[in-house]
Amino acid sequence: MAVVAVIGAQWGDEGKGKIVDMLAEKAKYVVRFSGGDNAGHTVVNPLGEFKLRLTPSGIFYPGTISVIGNGVVVNPRVLLEEMDHLNGRGVDTSRLYISDRAHLIMPYHILFDGLEEEARGGRAIGTTHKGIGPAYTDKVSRTGIRVGDLLDRELFREKLTAALDYKNRILTRVYDKDPLSLDDIYNEYCGYADRLVKHISDTTIMLAEAIQRHEPVLLEGAQGVLLDPDFGTYPYTTSSSPLAANACLGAGLGPGQLTHVLGIFKSFQTRVGTGPMPTELKDATGEAIRQRGQEFGTVTGRPRRCGWFDAVAARFSHRVNSYTSVAITRLDVLDALPRLKICVGYKLDKRTIDYFPAGIPALEKCRPVYEELPGWQQNTDGARRFEELPGPAQRYVARLEELIGCPASLISVGRSREQTIVRKSVF
Ligand code: IMP
Repeated sequence: MAVVAVIGAQWGDEGKGKIVDMLAEKAKYVVRFSGGDNAGHTVVNPLGEFKLRLTPSGIFYPGTISVIGNGVVVNPRVLLEEMDHLNGRGVDTSRLYISDRAHLIMPYHILFDGLEEEARGGRAIGTTHKGIGPAYTDKVSRTGIRVGDLLDRELFREKLTAALDYKNRILTRVYDKDPLSLDDIYNEYCGYADRLVKHISDTTIMLAEAIQRHEPVLLEGAQGVLLDPDFGTYPYTTSSSPLAANACLGAGLGPGQLTHVLGIFKSFQTRVGTGPMPTELKDATGEAIRQRGQEFGTVTGRPRRCGWFDAVAARFSHRVNSYTSVAITRLDVLDALPRLKICVGYKLDKRTIDYFPAGIPALEKCRPVYEELPGWQQNTDGARRFEELPGPAQRYVARLEELIGCPASLISVGRSREQTIVRKSVF
């Protein structure tokens, strides 16, 4: 039995799409367990380049079953657009299943995401405006509508009526906006239901049976650990947990069933949206990394903030996830740099600390303590074995492993599947 969770170990955008795509070849099931279409996974395969937002990356393999788990929030319009796009490019989506327990993103969630961000003014989170936060808010406050509710039109209308009654009062009285029409949303979502009905299922049964048959299962993370509502830079976080523990919860598995937790680290640091980022580089080096790595958001196109690898945050990420091994991605992006820095501690007031503080005011005051290493100034994109990397690149990776406290099973040196050094198989 192998149940592997792939976890974004920093602020998201670590290059999970490529790693999941590679591992998906060996998996029978690929399961998304958190987030929604705020995620953007870029996959480059023989069919071309794909930017997936909701569909699990296993969709490209004919023998693999893709599952959108109960922990995901689903915008059915976006999902159907994505399925149509995939079909149009020759990808079969008939093996995609959506948990009946997953929550729906409704038009008012998207509206409120924008209105709430506006109301935050200078304290805006910089959300992706996809309605993610408001949809999870409704889930927790028990006013959400689930994918399975679409199967019972009467129940769906009843729940939508109750939700809209309340949402429209806020829209009109707090935000001075026009109310939303019950019939318009009902008809729109019934149209989606007609198309999605054959994909909706109790996916926990499917996964339990797969595990009983010893079939390999891949749990595909979205976002990253530092965007976790508990362990991330709260409130500058997303609204569902990207952690390994939630991989079980969001897929409907028991924690004892996980056999490998793979943490994905970029060989440097990036972040989109607001919130503290101690190693951010606002200079020419940051810009050089952004341009060379084409570090722009998959979903929003926003330039990503770039900086040196933060080993304090990385150790913390390992502590709250217990990675079995890690993947180091985008090593080739650093190829041209003459010297590299790794943050090994923070200066906070007059002290040096080696932990990631919980509070924003403390994190904002943290100044990185750097260790410097020589660069390699050679191309690494052709390396297929660790020994083929230039000496300084090998030492850089070894130092990251040492600082994180976990061995690197995979090293990625380019966008295509082949541009990967596999040191140890996770399946
Ligand atoms: P939300 O998830 O749209 O509510 O956005 C909350 C925060 O998470 C913002 O800072 C977003 O930029 C960030 N975020 C959400 N999804 C991703 C992702 O897939 N990659 C990187 N950052 C993300």
